Amino acid sequence: MNKKLLYLETFGCQMNVHDSEQMATLLSGEGYVLTDDAKKADLILINTCSIRDKAEQKAFSELGRMKVLKEEKPHLIIGFCGCLAQHLGAKVYSRASYVDLVCGTHNICNLPKMVAAVEKEKKKITQIGFLPEISSLGIFAPPPAGSFCAFVSIMQGCDNYCAYCVVPYLRGPEISRQPDDILHEIEKLTQNGVKEVTLLGQNVNSYGKNLETGAHLVSLIKKINEIEGIERIRFTTSHPKDLSGELMECFACVPKLCEHIHLPVQSGSDRILKSMNRGYSSDDYLQKVERLRNICPQISITSDIIVGFPGETPKDYQETIDMMEKIRFDAVFSFKYSERKGTAACKLSGQVPEAEKSRRLKELQSLQDRHTQEKNSTLAGSIQEVLVEGRSKNSAQDMSGRTRSWKIVNFPGGPELAGKLVNVGIIRGYLHSLRGEVQS
Ligand code: SAH
Ligand code: SF4
Ligand code: F3S
Repeated sequence: MNKKLLYLETFGCQMNVHDSEQMATLLSGEGYVLTDDAKKADLILINTCSIRDKAEQKAFSELGRMKVLKEEKPHLIIGFCGCLAQHLGAKVYSRASYVDLVCGTHNICNLPKMVAAVEKEKKKITQIGFLPEISSLGIFAPPPAGSFCAFVSIMQGCDNYCAYCVVPYLRGPEISRQPDDILHEIEKLTQNGVKEVTLLGQNVNSYGKNLETGAHLVSLIKKINEIEGIERIRFTTSHPKDLSGELMECFACVPKLCEHIHLPVQSGSDRILKSMNRGYSSDDYLQKVERLRNICPQISITSDIIVGFPGETPKDYQETIDMMEKIRFDAVFSFKYSERKGTAACKLSGQVPEAEKSRRLKELQSLQDRHTQEKNSTLAGSIQEVLVEGRSKNSAQDMSGRTRSWKIVNFPGGPELAGKLVNVGIIRGYLHSLRGEVQS
């Protein structure tokens, strides 16, 4: 088989990152080897995100960069994949006529056939149909060589229809995988050196909802805890409305489950939460946080927040700020509301001016930076278990890894530590990382 080069660029969430790993694995069966250099590639795939307008712009600006490459090398195949591809379908060609194939979120399995057909028939191919069963969910795709942390998709799609969000339209309805398939995949990952798994889904708390076996996230996590070779379990994303007491208890009683939860709150205003169709009140959220902290005092809690949702008054925004002050998240991913065509929020009045959204976002982010810095500073003097992932990005003398609470730690050490669990004494907490020293 001739060796061909694949350049794969990924935007968006962890699910998209894992989809890209699956694409690379499938195409390796056709002789494609990954390259970091788009100029050398025979096949370029852009795996896109459509969650906010900015994400779409990024995907198109990246695609624009590829145009000259196609002009220089006519046999180059360019594919547009992922959520924006799902959204636009064949309309992509009218924006970029040099694209050869458009592959939607349910069609990854067909990618090798699509590429082969473009090669042979020299015509454009578009596949964006939703399938009742997504066979790509089960494609075995270990993480890149030298990585000890793997993503495992346990479900696809979302049924929640939050008023601002395109995901249900682009990923389809919620479908859970069979627990045995997931467990088998994780056992196989351990044979590839994987020690930490992150279970992925848009709303993992409702895992199993459509399965006849009665499986749910708690039973799944408890079974994964028994797998030899797996040292750490994480899951994301959790939806506050479906976070059960039984799942919260797992943070105390399942030893391999890491003490971190990403629990997007979106807003601190009950009026806005209702209008977002989130299905919980600010009080419900606060109570869940309190219970989580009672069960597991050292748990780190991160969140997502949107500012400037239609109708968000200064008072609503202030309620979000007040909630942040009360909770003190370990970290927050915050965004300006971005209108997505076809979503319920498009019909709402009371658009917040762009400049006001920017002002709110900036203020909220500086408050969160203060909280994150404070949280990280209090870890100085503690000893944290770190799974060493590899060389630090900042210094050739340092290694880097994450605590169970998902914080990055840099510390002096050599490559022999990669893949090991070590105890690190924390010397100092910064905004984006911790500094430490391995304990002998
Ligand atoms: N399934 C996850 C999140 C998926 S999208 C959940 O339910 O939380 C990741 C984050 O993007 C969301 O939590 C939300 O904060 C943000 N987001 C989604 N749609 C958005 C939009 N139209 N404008 C701004 N932010 C948005
Ligand atoms: Fe979007 Fe809401 Fe589903 Fe998350 S739960 S993917 S925010 S619709
Ligand atoms: Fe983006 Fe699709 Fe993920 S829209 S956030 S890549 S599910």
